[in-house]
Amino acid sequence: MAVPTPSRVSRTAQIAATDPNRVLIFDTTMRDGEQAPGFSMSSAAKLKMAGVLRDLGVDVIEAGFAAASPGDEEAVRRVAGEIEGPVFCSLARASENDIDAAHRALSTAPRAHRRCHVFIGTSPIHRSAKLRMTTDQVMAAAVRSVAYAASLFDDVEFSAEDAFRTEPAFLAEIMEAAAGAGAQTLNVPDTVGYATPEEVRERYRFLNARIRPHHPDVIFSAHCHDDLGMAVANSLAAVEGGARQVEGAINGIGERAGNASIEEVVMALKVRGDRYGVTTGANTPHLVRASKILCEITETAIARNKAVVGVNAFAHEAGIHQHGMLADSRTYEIMRPQDVGFDASSFVLGKHSGRHAVAKRAEVLGHALAGDVLAEVFAGFKRRADEIGEINDTELTAIIAAAAERQERPAYAAAG
Ligand code: KIV
Ligand code: ZN
Repeated sequence: MAVPTPSRVSRTAQIAATDPNRVLIFDTTMRDGEQAPGFSMSSAAKLKMAGVLRDLGVDVIEAGFAAASPGDEEAVRRVAGEIEGPVFCSLARASENDIDAAHRALSTAPRAHRRCHVFIGTSPIHRSAKLRMTTDQVMAAAVRSVAYAASLFDDVEFSAEDAFRTEPAFLAEIMEAAAGAGAQTLNVPDTVGYATPEEVRERYRFLNARIRPHHPDVIFSAHCHDDLGMAVANSLAAVEGGARQVEGAINGIGERAGNASIEEVVMALKVRGDRYGVTTGANTPHLVRASKILCEITETAIARNKAVVGVNAFAHEAGIHQHGMLADSRTYEIMRPQDVGFDASSFVLGKHSGRHAVAKRAEVLGHALAGDVLAEVFAGFKRRADEIGEINDTELTAIIAAAAERQERPAYAAAG
């Protein structure tokens, strides 16, 4: 692929031209994510979040939907003007008014860092029930609006909303027409989370074969929703099918069940680089911070067992696991906690923990336990764990003291 000259070439096109296996990360936490009930963000909150996303190294930040409200236009304007580095994007319906609002809002960013994201519903149900338009009318609106956006922006993305329930031939036709009208990125959203990974892989291969011969530099994008819990698997399948941009949100927030979770996609591509053979620009040690700040801003919590960023993601309680971890962390961890932003793995002591782990923790707390005292402490530990679940350091210290007292002799020696 020829490397485009820098003038009038968008930042994302420059990045894509450097490596055909570089996957662009498009973050929509502040647009699709924010659209979902409970995740509304003020412009100050968006500014804070955008700073974290910049540190995380996402390539594109969809900062909002400028035409949705004066407040959202202002938020996009502020974020695009105050944060440097990524490309900033505003969503727009296939209408000049929306595209003008996006243009006004993004005027605060350098030209190469502005993207307009134009979408229109293309599936039969969206055409008939929502838009009340024929395929010809949808096609005309898409081409007209993409061409208008391309007259104002060097970077235009076109989304065929509900692409996976759209007739494949019409989908290919409208995508090709959008590319012809000036869209460099073609997004194939699984708007309702309906597709399966096999279908996704095949659909990207089909679109690649149909469109790339005429538009070799076009970038296919994935935007998968999680209604059936397949958003991340579908995004990865899209990459296998040739997508080189993945859209998602921190903690997987988004309409209904959410979008593909950025932290999961990014770590899957990294940890299983052997399988996918692609790279991203993500600075992954910022993932936990991004997740935490989003929780703080939106006053929401994530599940303990949330992949990659949940508190249990690197926590071990079961004795067999703790024993394995003490021998070699690769027994039960496929990535290092530091790679995603945790300080270390954690060993949680509870009724499933073994004697070895209890002795180790006691040693860290300054008590070298052995023999009868260890047996006594371990028995006391199990009884208390049955009562209260997790045994923290204070509890363990109390158990050790009680055991020592029962022994009525200084049978344990202070380690330090
Ligand atoms: O899910 C969807 O189809 C969208 C589009 C606007 C890209 O969010
Ligand atoms: Zn969406």
